Amino acid sequence: MNPMRGLLLAGAQSAWLRRQATQRAFVRRAVSRFMPGESLDDALRVSETLRASGRGVILTNLGENVVERAEADAVARHYCEVLDRLQGMTLDAEVSVKLTQLGLDVSPDIAYQHLQCIAARARQHGSRLWIDMESTAYTEATLQLYRRARAADLSVGVALQAYLRRTRADLESLIPLGCAVRLVKGAYDEPADLAFRDKAEVDESFFQLANRLLDARAREAGAWLTVGTHDARLVRRIEETAATAGCPKDGFEFAMLYGIGRPEQVRLTRAGYRLRVLISYGAYWFPWYMRRLAERPANVLFVLKHMVGG
Ligand code: FDA
Repeated sequence: MNPMRGLLLAGAQSAWLRRQATQRAFVRRAVSRFMPGESLDDALRVSETLRASGRGVILTNLGENVVERAEADAVARHYCEVLDRLQGMTLDAEVSVKLTQLGLDVSPDIAYQHLQCIAARARQHGSRLWIDMESTAYTEATLQLYRRARAADLSVGVALQAYLRRTRADLESLIPLGCAVRLVKGAYDEPADLAFRDKAEVDESFFQLANRLLDARAREAGAWLTVGTHDARLVRRIEETAATAGCPKDGFEFAMLYGIGRPEQVRLTRAGYRLRVLISYGAYWFPWYMRRLAERPANVLFVLKHMVGG
């Protein structure tokens, strides 16, 4: 792993650095490249613009590792309100949550109750609720709650990380449940015994997992693939393999983060693929922003430029 990436991911855990960064105007300016603003209204405003160009959205309120029950309850209420608000709009919007934001560290049952409640609201709105995948400390617990949610027939999807060695086996166990998978490379700092650390290996794992989800047997079992990457080479390979597998262009979708890969977003939409942009909002952006910097250490230069630019 690039040493800068390791440093940035370690920095994401630092409370001191978070306090320093969130007070600095130049950091806030740099963050605006990846999020349109801290409020839900900011996210909805951009969602309208994206709708005009044929792109759907996934909305997520930033936050993780909530340890107070009351805070987790408030997050769940917030998401229900978001879904109620979306019901009066014509956006193609879904919501994505982190289970540690819904109280997983307090108790898995509390996180599940919140998940159930938000998923029921999403169903009324006619949309799917997504579960983000966090670090390996939570992989097993996240998948357990995902299986429980599918057994209760909730309309939920889960992010799976291609860099994890276990993901191939996890995917095989989820396909018979008619899983919806948002496939991503993985954004955390994981040890080599748990995760591939070499980009070529991660990319190949991603491609194989996508292939598996696109094959006719998986689709017959009700599996759904959302391809969450900005990697143009992988995107092309997946377009080709989907065509070869006879999967129609609307039989899966692509998803990218707000502010990243815009030309590729436009190209895919024009080519007739479904594409969603994941828009983050909220005040708790520091660890999430550090992960964005770590994905592309060249982004640090961008922050430095803002610093010098004043
Ligand atoms: P890669 O890192 O190889 O980048 C490919 C190209 O994309 C780069 O060359 C660059 O051009 C561009 N790019 C990528 N990241 C960039 C950045 N930060 N700034 C500027 N350009 C960048 N992870 C996770 O662990 N759990 C989750 O639930 C999710 N959820 C999620 C949803 C969606 C919709 C996306 C797109 C991503 C996630 N991720 C995630 C993050 C994911 O794991 C991964 O860290 C990033 O997508 C970066 O990897 P790429 O697939 O883009 O490839």
